[in-house]
Amino acid sequence: MSVYGVGARIVKIFDTTLRDGEQMPGVSLTVEEKVIIGMALDELRADYIEAGFAAVSPEEAEAVSRIARDAAYATVVSLARANKRDIDAAVDAGVDMVHVFIATSDIHMKYKLRMTREEVLAKIAESVEYAKSRGVKVLFSAEDATRSDLQFLVEAFRTAVEAGADEINVPDTVGVMTPSRMRYLVEYLRGRLPPVPMHVHCHDDFGMAVANTVAALEAGADVAQVTVNGFGERGGNAALEEVVAAAAFLLGMKTGIIMEKLYNTSRLVAKLFGIQLQPNKAVVGDNAFSHESGIHVHGVLNNPFTYEPMTPESVGNRRRIVLGKHSGRHSVEWALKQIGYEPEPGLVDYVLRRIKELSVKKVSVDEDLLRSIAQDYRKTINIVG
Ligand code: KIV
Ligand code: ZN
Repeated sequence: MSVYGVGARIVKIFDTTLRDGEQMPGVSLTVEEKVIIGMALDELRADYIEAGFAAVSPEEAEAVSRIARDAAYATVVSLARANKRDIDAAVDAGVDMVHVFIATSDIHMKYKLRMTREEVLAKIAESVEYAKSRGVKVLFSAEDATRSDLQFLVEAFRTAVEAGADEINVPDTVGVMTPSRMRYLVEYLRGRLPPVPMHVHCHDDFGMAVANTVAALEAGADVAQVTVNGFGERGGNAALEEVVAAAAFLLGMKTGIIMEKLYNTSRLVAKLFGIQLQPNKAVVGDNAFSHESGIHVHGVLNNPFTYEPMTPESVGNRRRIVLGKHSGRHSVEWALKQIGYEPEPGLVDYVLRRIKELSVKKVSVDEDLLRSIAQDYRKTINIVG
């Protein structure tokens, strides 16, 4: 079943797992691991892969360069500060696009850059022109855009576009936006800037990154910058799988992502990052399509859409019926059939009783335990009979 209407709007996905995601405290990927993730993102059909920050180290440059060489579909990107050294490192790594950034908020300009507004504008013009002169596409980011003076932000983006930037990015660097503010900002900028593709890049400090990204897409942003599993600094970034599923199933928009690969890609990234995903993670968590309560299981077994907003298969996940404290007869009957037992009423009663006893001891019942409970019941019957 297609979830897209005829003429659905197409939005693009810019994955920055290998750059912003890897900035997650305690995470450091080897070149090999970065290449494995880069290839998985290419197979997932991310439109852009930010493979790293080439100027950081020779190893980082090597990973960026191998991904740029081997990616068959994606536009491969390296981050660069607004200076020649960083831009040269990115271009020399062979990327298709250089992502030039400089901060535009007063707090960053005063305390971090120690530059005036005029100096920042001059740096933007000079660095974007230089990157363009090296024959690559340029994406310009106004770091901390969402805490920048609005008129100055427009000036900064205009300067970048006039200097040749092909695309612009609006980062919510410290995650301070709300969906309504995001909508306002995207419309405000759209109305004042030349029509270049607009990216949004939302951090999750208040748990709003996905909602803000979705709001920006609704307001007309063209590209969502995301990381797999929402991995990233502090609260992380907008999660790729959540933005993609929301775009498809809630907004009726189309991305190029092969959604059936979302679950496996999420697991691969979690494994290589050395981070265990929480079970209640939306879309790709083990509980995303798990049901325990009797009422829910009854509904789902009759029609999955009673308690699932999308099918697990559509995102590569699977449905799990969990046997525990909240289980009812329908779950037990279903689970017994799955392991080849006829769910006769006496057996169902016995299993239900055992599940509730075990749940007090915090023991959950998986297939093996269920089988052994069913065998116990048979023995009981034989002894009594
Ligand atoms: O969060 C941020 O501002 C960034 C920029 C470098 C785009 O990651
Ligand atoms: Zn970021």
